[in-house]
Amino acid sequence: MVDEYTRQALASMPKCELHLHIEGTLEPQLALTLAERNGVALPWTNIDELKAQYEFEDLQSFLNLYYALMKTLKTEEDFKDLMLAYLTRANANGVRHAEIFFDPQVHVCTNGLGFNTVLDGLLEGMAIGRERFGITGGLILSIVRDMDIDSANMILDLAQPRKAEILGIGLDSAEVGHPPARFVDQFARARRFGWHCVAHAGEEGPAAYIRDALDLLHAERIDHGIHIQDDTELLERVARDGVPLTCCPLSNLRLQVVHDMREHPIPRFLDEGVMCTINSDDPAYFGGYVAANYTALVSIGMSMETLAALAGNSIDASFAPEARKTQLHAELATWRTRHGL
Ligand code: ADE
Ligand code: ZN
Repeated sequence: MVDEYTRQALASMPKCELHLHIEGTLEPQLALTLAERNGVALPWTNIDELKAQYEFEDLQSFLNLYYALMKTLKTEEDFKDLMLAYLTRANANGVRHAEIFFDPQVHVCTNGLGFNTVLDGLLEGMAIGRERFGITGGLILSIVRDMDIDSANMILDLAQPRKAEILGIGLDSAEVGHPPARFVDQFARARRFGWHCVAHAGEEGPAAYIRDALDLLHAERIDHGIHIQDDTELLERVARDGVPLTCCPLSNLRLQVVHDMREHPIPRFLDEGVMCTINSDDPAYFGGYVAANYTALVSIGMSMETLAALAGNSIDASFAPEARKTQLHAELATWRTRHGL
């Protein structure tokens, strides 16, 4: 059991969130409200029926529900509301800067929405969040790796005129059988846009996908990266080169990537000198926002000192301008003093 003082201290600790899918913040009640508002028929008609769907055996079983509920998002206002709901919770979790994934291939190519509808709504929500809470950040356009490559190219065509409003490119969805090598051209194009590059790798897929994300896609951070534990040489390289991993402990537990929090490799990664960060991935699905992910590590014996260092890593691993990083480190230092660290 984690005491209330520790829980509150971690919720107020200044931090960056670097691995968060905005669609993964769609809470079941909001999905039902949007379904009603937009006339979308879901297979689940009440909250209890819907909540009974949140037992996952692997990544795919989660993605099935995640994509089903995404159909309830229809209008610019829906995307603005979703973003603002997340940033309100993020603020209560001590998030000061957030770099946020979105999956436009699904909204546009599968669900028939306009690219600008999605982007405008999300950016509006972020602008309000910045004004209301002082949370900075940006959007990372994530390529859905199990959709056809034409849809990825089409989305990049649509994004090109608005490239200055997007921070980077990512790679997500069902990993095994969809290796980084397939996306070399799309990531090269994104680099020409001036975007940062990150990729999910080694969540369910092998360590070789992590190496390919680094060597072929020039990923600057690896999202998850947990299977790097199977490749000592790669682990040493990532530690030496300071490549950040965006770890998501509650996600890994709920998707059965690890079967017990005590088996999570974050403590080993830290011992080996890897720059880990802590994030929530899809908090509406995995039982907690980012502070709960830090709290989960207290429950396996991690010290407050280490957790504060992890928050420091989240600042260093972000794509925030240097002046903003300096400001966030100062906020973290103030928090440390207040908590006797
Ligand atoms: N899309 C949303 N969450 C994801 C995850 N954990 N892994 C891969 N793709 C995702
Ligand atoms: Zn993810």
